[in-house]
Amino acid sequence: MKKLWGARFKSELHDTAKKFTYSLAVDHELLSADVKVSMAHALMLGRIGIISTRDSKTLVRGLWQVLASIRKKCVHGFASEYEDIHTLIQVELEKKVGKLARKLHTGRSRNDLVATSTKVYLREKITTLLEGLNQFQSILVTQAERNKHVMIPGYTHLQRAQVVLLAHHFLAYVEMLERDKSRLVDARNRMNECPLGAGALAGTSLPVDRRFVAKLLGFERPTSNSLDSVSDRDFAIETLSAVATVFMHLSRFAEDLVLWNSQEFGFVSLDDQFATGSSLMPQKKNPDVFELLRGKSGEVYGNLISLLVTMKGLPLAYNRDMQEDKRPLFRSIRLLESALSVLNGAVRTLKVDEVACTKASKDSFLFATDLLEYLVKKRVPFLEAHAMVGQLVKKALDSHSSLSGLPFETYQEHSKAFKKDVYDLFDPQVSISGKVPYGSTRPELVVKQIRSWKVRLKLEAKRLKLARRRGH
Ligand code: ARG
Repeated sequence: MKKLWGARFKSELHDTAKKFTYSLAVDHELLSADVKVSMAHALMLGRIGIISTRDSKTLVRGLWQVLASIRKKCVHGFASEYEDIHTLIQVELEKKVGKLARKLHTGRSRNDLVATSTKVYLREKITTLLEGLNQFQSILVTQAERNKHVMIPGYTHLQRAQVVLLAHHFLAYVEMLERDKSRLVDARNRMNECPLGAGALAGTSLPVDRRFVAKLLGFERPTSNSLDSVSDRDFAIETLSAVATVFMHLSRFAEDLVLWNSQEFGFVSLDDQFATGSSLMPQKKNPDVFELLRGKSGEVYGNLISLLVTMKGLPLAYNRDMQEDKRPLFRSIRLLESALSVLNGAVRTLKVDEVACTKASKDSFLFATDLLEYLVKKRVPFLEAHAMVGQLVKKALDSHSSLSGLPFETYQEHSKAFKKDVYDLFDPQVSISGKVPYGSTRPELVVKQIRSWKVRLKLEAKRLKLARRRGH
């Protein structure tokens, strides 16, 4: 027996139909989740007396052996023989415990089984992703701390705008990733209801104990509507959407690094282990890792759209179309795992060129806003002050001078409020130290942020480790 149905059919499934419908090549990734779910189911069957306690224990033992033996073999070898991972587990179980294996599928369907296993799988994967994100945040904080005195021009429209601390820039990504983590946690919390017991779509006439199974598997409760339980994949879509948002952030970070690593900026240089060369131009050292991070986001967004489109026209309840949820889900998760591990190394080994950063931060036009606020503090109305500084900028540009190179008389021509101390403003340190509000780039505030992130991330790493040990 290599499939879980067939008695009512006169002929075997055509080879082309097999090839088209079989999913083991993809869903073998669910192996350990599916075995776990089956173990809980077997224990429940024993508990309600549909099978004996002894039989239920034998099934569980058999399932352990199945897990070990399938892991050892290369699943791809029999990808074309078995319909899916559930079938493979069933067949292997029969090899271990004999005909008793045929009782395992009592009171369930692959429809509720696959929804449950996918949730169990995802819950674990989300914990792994949270750990990866947390670790990457810590590396960003380490870089922020290591370079806490380094200033760079901050940009808007990719035009030099105002001086900021490099640490402030790194911490901006730490904030984004924190929200990304919370989106993943939300998705995980919402998927914390167990579909098993919904059967194919209507439930079962057997007295299954859904609460017991849910509890064993670490779910908060069973799902409340059997049709919904087997027919929705919003939990997968939510996860894909959260992963897509992470990639959007990582991709922007990658873009910053591609720019900063260019000769035009020269703010950072990548370690040789994380840079690549050109087959033609011997002088090149390219940031391919970061470019690919940007590039791979395309697939991640595609995966989200692919599942949304797959689901959007399906009538209730289960439809085989839903089998197509797995490839995009597994691919996106794998992509994020590998992106995070390469980023860890690439960012940890990143070297900041403080001299280049400082030089760029001394560009006098970066202080135009400070000049404007200087006037405002002397009671010049904001819009008038804006116009005055705008004219000074124009004058400097027209005479190929810097803003700080304009003579004092020129300043005075525009406003008597300008005093000699105006020249003190052309100092990046003065500029950042003068920033007032909470959340700004003022060094004491940034240092405080670094300190608080260090504590938060360390605590979170501990919490995640504990959660992993507890199995969710
Ligand atoms: N492999 C299927 C899936 O991933 C589960 C099997 C349900 N098959 C069925 N014919 N009801 O969705």
